[in-house]
Amino acid sequence: MYVLGIETSCDETAVAIYHAKKGLIAHTLHSQILTHNEYGGVVPELASRDHVRKLIPLINQVLLESRINASAINGIAYTAGPGLMGALLVGATTARSLAWAWQKPAIAVHHMEGHLLAPMLEEQSPEFPFVALLISGGHTLLIEVSGVGQYCLLGESLDDAAGEAFDKTAKLLGLDYPGGPALSNLASQGKPRFKFPRPMTDRPGLDFSFSGLKTFTLNTYNTSNQAQQDKADIAFAFQQAMAETLAIKCKRALHQTSLSRLVVAGGVSANQEIRRQLEQMCEKSGAQIFFPRPEFCTDNGAMIAYAGCLRLQAGQTQGLEIFARPRWPMNELLNL
Ligand code: KG4
Ligand code: ZN
Repeated sequence: MYVLGIETSCDETAVAIYHAKKGLIAHTLHSQILTHNEYGGVVPELASRDHVRKLIPLINQVLLESRINASAINGIAYTAGPGLMGALLVGATTARSLAWAWQKPAIAVHHMEGHLLAPMLEEQSPEFPFVALLISGGHTLLIEVSGVGQYCLLGESLDDAAGEAFDKTAKLLGLDYPGGPALSNLASQGKPRFKFPRPMTDRPGLDFSFSGLKTFTLNTYNTSNQAQQDKADIAFAFQQAMAETLAIKCKRALHQTSLSRLVVAGGVSANQEIRRQLEQMCEKSGAQIFFPRPEFCTDNGAMIAYAGCLRLQAGQTQGLEIFARPRWPMNELLNL
């Protein structure tokens, strides 16, 4: 079964072809960084318009690279949410129309389920059950995963998502969008000098809160000399606080669920320091840890093609309606 995967939920137009037995056949991506850079963040209308321009050429490109004819595609998977409504509609409309024209089934994929399953594209792939930490621009979720579609929410952010906290902190340090990678680069020149709080780790529970960390960063910045080294030291302290907070909560989640496998995915999981601290925690706790390769941590078409393939193989399909949900709780997903 060949599945075409389409991702347009935010600021990346991404397309991939996944084969149920042969694995990932081809994938490609267009990032809108240059489109949004001058505005310091994603402008939804510009995102939608750019998806319209790029999506069909990218679909043609993966078909060409795969050396398969469109008639060989057995199903089309598209990100139906959560995400920006206009951006989602471009992918959903294109996918649904192609499926209708090609007389093939379409399947709506939940973006965060795509992230959650992305580590399964790697050679060292996790088995169920496991604890998943999903850290992206819009979400921070700790989930007990018993199987595809069997998600029990253990904890989530009560305010800013981890990626959002990176982006906002980067902005107040005067860094360009997208802030996460920029802040991480700056932190590599930083020295241990400031001690930032590890929010909500001093009380039981698995929820997160990152907005206080952002305020703490702002106050530290305002009372510093605001020189380049001050900024780097602040970025370093912020990243350490973020990494350690995530590690403490993951350790707690593994303990609470008595599970010994941790899956970490979503854009922020590309962060090297966060990966290092989570690896260290798992090693000490006797747990196994699984990440996607860095390019599949951030948004990509491969994870959507893969998640869609699993659901299509199980006989699930979406009707003829164009299905897009900017907000879509994961517990509404069907079990496989
Ligand atoms: O999963 P993703 O690509 O898109 C969403 O689903 O939101 O995640 C994007 C988020 C952004 O907030 C971005 O700043 C952050 O992931 N990010 C990083 C890094 N790479 C991307 N944050 C910290 N360090 C990174 N290396
Ligand atoms: Zn994402």
